[in-house]
Amino acid sequence: GSASGDALPGMKFTAVPANTEDAVVIPDGYRQEIVIRWGDPVLPGAPEFDFANQTPEAQAGQFGFNNDFAGLIPVDGAPGHFYLVANLEYPTEPFMFTGYKDGEPTEQQARIAMAAVGIAVVEVVAQNGSGALKTVVGPRNQRLTAASPFRLTGPVAGSEFVRTTADPAGTTILGTFANCSGGLTPWGTMLSGEENFNNYFANAGKVTDKTAAKRLERYSFADDDDEHHWGRFDKRFDLAVEPNEANRFGYIVEVDPHDPKAVPVKHSSMGRFKHESANIYVVDSGPDKGTVVAYSGDDEKFEYIYKFVSSRKIKSGLSKTAREHNMRILDEGTLYVATFTAEPVDGSGALPAAGKFAGKGSWKPLLTVNADGTARSYIAGMSPAEVAVFTREAADAVGATKMDRPEDIEPNPKTGKVYCALTNNSDRGTDGKAAADLVNPRNENKNGQILEMTDNHTGTEFTWELLLVCGDPAAADTYYGGFDKTKVSPISCPDNVAFDPHGNLWISTDGNALDSNDGLFAVALDGDRRGETKQFLTVPKGAETCGPVIDSNRILIAVQHPGELDDHSADNPASHWPDGGNTQPRPSVVAVWRDGGTPIGV
Ligand code: FEO
Ligand code: CA
Ligand code: CA
Ligand code: CA
Repeated sequence: GSASGDALPGMKFTAVPANTEDAVVIPDGYRQEIVIRWGDPVLPGAPEFDFANQTPEAQAGQFGFNNDFAGLIPVDGAPGHFYLVANLEYPTEPFMFTGYKDGEPTEQQARIAMAAVGIAVVEVVAQNGSGALKTVVGPRNQRLTAASPFRLTGPVAGSEFVRTTADPAGTTILGTFANCSGGLTPWGTMLSGEENFNNYFANAGKVTDKTAAKRLERYSFADDDDEHHWGRFDKRFDLAVEPNEANRFGYIVEVDPHDPKAVPVKHSSMGRFKHESANIYVVDSGPDKGTVVAYSGDDEKFEYIYKFVSSRKIKSGLSKTAREHNMRILDEGTLYVATFTAEPVDGSGALPAAGKFAGKGSWKPLLTVNADGTARSYIAGMSPAEVAVFTREAADAVGATKMDRPEDIEPNPKTGKVYCALTNNSDRGTDGKAAADLVNPRNENKNGQILEMTDNHTGTEFTWELLLVCGDPAAADTYYGGFDKTKVSPISCPDNVAFDPHGNLWISTDGNALDSNDGLFAVALDGDRRGETKQFLTVPKGAETCGPVIDSNRILIAVQHPGELDDHSADNPASHWPDGGNTQPRPSVVAVWRDGGTPIGV
């Protein structure tokens, strides 16, 4: 790897080169340890993992499958103790069960899958002198699954679009799944994005009402997209029986770890789409000081970027009154969608004449929800409830810009600039689909790009530029912020973003198209080294890098779907990480720290 040289604080480590190891590969001088794996007990009384003898009851008390977002929230009054909050995105049945018949789960397998998804809250304790975290199986822990009750808030709650046989009031939803990335709030809660929820419903093709069928199609529901076949065993997942159940997923979920008995919330005021995540910025000066703004991307090809500007300010502390007040911040305010100056380009990825990919943009309002529950739709012919539940249609109506799969979007706490991973879009410029433009500058985009927005947060105008146009640094169609491309680690398919305490951007990848395992990278943002990109670690073969948490002395990653390579399954494992020998691979959260527990990368 390249020497650390004059790298910025936080980036002084020896870059890990591209590789295809069945291991988490970290820089020299660093250490790692598993925090928790699929199947490890979370709730008191849950059994130890037994791959060959799984049950729904055991899984509901254990850590679930395919950990994605991870976060650490301090436990009030217990120094060194944290709630580890983690999304458990989706079941990959052929890798969870030996002898799995493709597309034909047994009822037992389907019910294990329903218990393997959702969210885990696990108390962890920091260890002296290292970055390791030990789990506590105790009363602070929570496991939310496809069966746990959630309270729906905002304009969709109680509306005709979400009433079902089991919930005629349309206010209590059972379950969360497809929880991809997320964010932590400054008021001590976790946000989780419900993303590919269309993959859990049967018989979209049997919905005969024309409007309902069109709306299902706009959200990519299709018979072929029912990957998990839950509708065979639980009729609420059969759209021919319960068409409104589809409208009860696709929200930002908020979980309060400080009260394990609190019913978590789904916030419909933030819109319904394939939420990758939601991340908060709090305005720190001027007349809007204290205003909370949440950014969220809709991760599908040609979908949009959104923000929600709250009209409610944070009440400090963790009293019951403060927590009840703060849990309504994301219910009251205005939802916007982004339009970019997006002049057509030739699609080759060549730098434009001006020297970099840059322009302006504006936010178009879709919906305002008031403190008294009344709401205003900005879209002719759509009620507030319709905008909140069929948000993609509302965004179509205002001409939002079709992006290359908006994944995580997060404001840099040091500068307020907002960074979005546009992961890839193989359909850009094909078959009459939208062609390359300045902000999505390549047709058949395999490697993705990183967007940097300078937003005034509460207003409607912004400027933007591309920080990275990812891919092979030796290729003409890549751009690393103007930095010397012979001195960077190659990056491809950015997914999650985070910031270290020095203000550097960290990016985890999913689907590296450059013949290497996926990894975690640090990117310099300012000065002469802007665009310098260094790989801090790689994950085992077939895995995606998720999480991540980038603290001063500790990095946490979630290793998702290790060993998921073509022509492999639990019957023919491609990976034996993390347990080694002949074991099955297990998605796991890993802590990485520097020898002696000193700060990372300085
Ligand atoms: Fe679940 Fe958008 O990655
Ligand atoms: Ca993701
Ligand atoms: Ca993030
Ligand atoms: Ca992804």
